[in-house]
Amino acid sequence: MNGEKRLTNEELAAQIIELKRRKRALLLGHYYTYPEVQDVCDYVGDSLGLTREAAKTDAEFVVFCGVHFMAEIASILCPTRKVLIPSLEAGCSLASSITGADVAVWKALNPEGVVIGYVNTTAEVKAYADCCCTSANAIKVVEAYRNSKKILFLPDWNLGHYVERKTGIGMEIWQGACHVHREFTEPTIRAKMAQYPNAEVLVHPESAGAWCDAIFNSPRVYIGSTSGMIARTASSPAKQFIVVTEQGTLYRMRKVAPDKELILITDTAVCEYMKQTSLLSVYQALRDERYEVKVPEELAVRARKPIERMLSIS
Ligand code: 13P
Ligand code: SF4
Repeated sequence: MNGEKRLTNEELAAQIIELKRRKRALLLGHYYTYPEVQDVCDYVGDSLGLTREAAKTDAEFVVFCGVHFMAEIASILCPTRKVLIPSLEAGCSLASSITGADVAVWKALNPEGVVIGYVNTTAEVKAYADCCCTSANAIKVVEAYRNSKKILFLPDWNLGHYVERKTGIGMEIWQGACHVHREFTEPTIRAKMAQYPNAEVLVHPESAGAWCDAIFNSPRVYIGSTSGMIARTASSPAKQFIVVTEQGTLYRMRKVAPDKELILITDTAVCEYMKQTSLLSVYQALRDERYEVKVPEELAVRARKPIERMLSIS
C-alpha cells in the first residue's frame, strides 16, 4: 500500500528526485535492484564502485538501494552522514554465513595468519579482517598477500576457489555461499552452453561452477564482477550471451548493448534480498529519514582499516 494516497511509479520517482534535491541525499544502487529503483539512483554499480562512491560523498544522507552490508560500509566510511536503507529485510545469505566470533577463533588459532574478507560480510567480521576485497579486485588483493604464511579467505567458498586457481596461492577458504550463485553449478552452466553453442558465457565468480575445469578453462567463458560482465557485453564481438548471475544485471546490459541477445542462466536467478527495495520504500526512506544504519564508532574504526587497505590496493 502507498499509505495515504496511492502514487504511480512516475509520481514516486518525481517525489524521490525532489526529496533528494531538498535533503541533499545521494542514492546509491546495486545492479541487482529493480530497474525503476536503478533509474532514480545517482550511481549504480558493483560493490567496489559503490564503496568508492560512498567513500567520497559529502551528501547529507546516503540512501543505499542494495543490501545491509553495503549500507554498513557507507556508515563506516562516512560516519558523519546519515545512511539509510529502505528495507530492514535487505540481508544477504552470504554475509550471514560467518560471524565475528568465528573469525576471532581462527585468529586466536592462527596468530600469524592473514584474513582476507569479501565485502559481503558484517562490520563485526570486517573488524577482524586484515584486508577486504570485492569480486572486482579479489585477485589483486590476494596477490598483495602472496608472501603471507597462511591466508584465510572468507566467507565465499566459490570466489575463494576461483581466486586460488587464478593466483596459484593456496588459502584456507570459509565454506560460505550465496544462495543464488551456488545454484549455478558446472552441469547447469554446461547444459546452457550446449543449448546455445554460439553464446559467450559471462560468469560471476560467486557461482559454484566458476572454478570447475569445464568453465574455468573454456575459451567461451568470461569470469568477472557484475561491472566486468556488463562491460564485456558491450566490448565483446559476440552477439549472444549466457548471463550467470542475478537477473537485475540484465537491465544495465541491455542499456550498454541494446543489440545483443541475453540469456539468463535460470529463471530463479533472483536475489530476494536485493528485491526488498521498491520505489515506494525508497520514497518512504527519504520522506521519513528511515531506516538508519549506524555502525558504532569503535567498531567502525576497526572495520574501516581493511576497507581502506583494499581501496589503496585496487
Ligand atoms: P559485485 O557487484 O561486486 O560483482 O557482487 C555481487 C554481489 O553479490 C553483491 O551482493
Ligand atoms: Fe548476498 Fe547473494 Fe544476494 Fe549478493 S546475490 S546480496 S551475495 S544473497
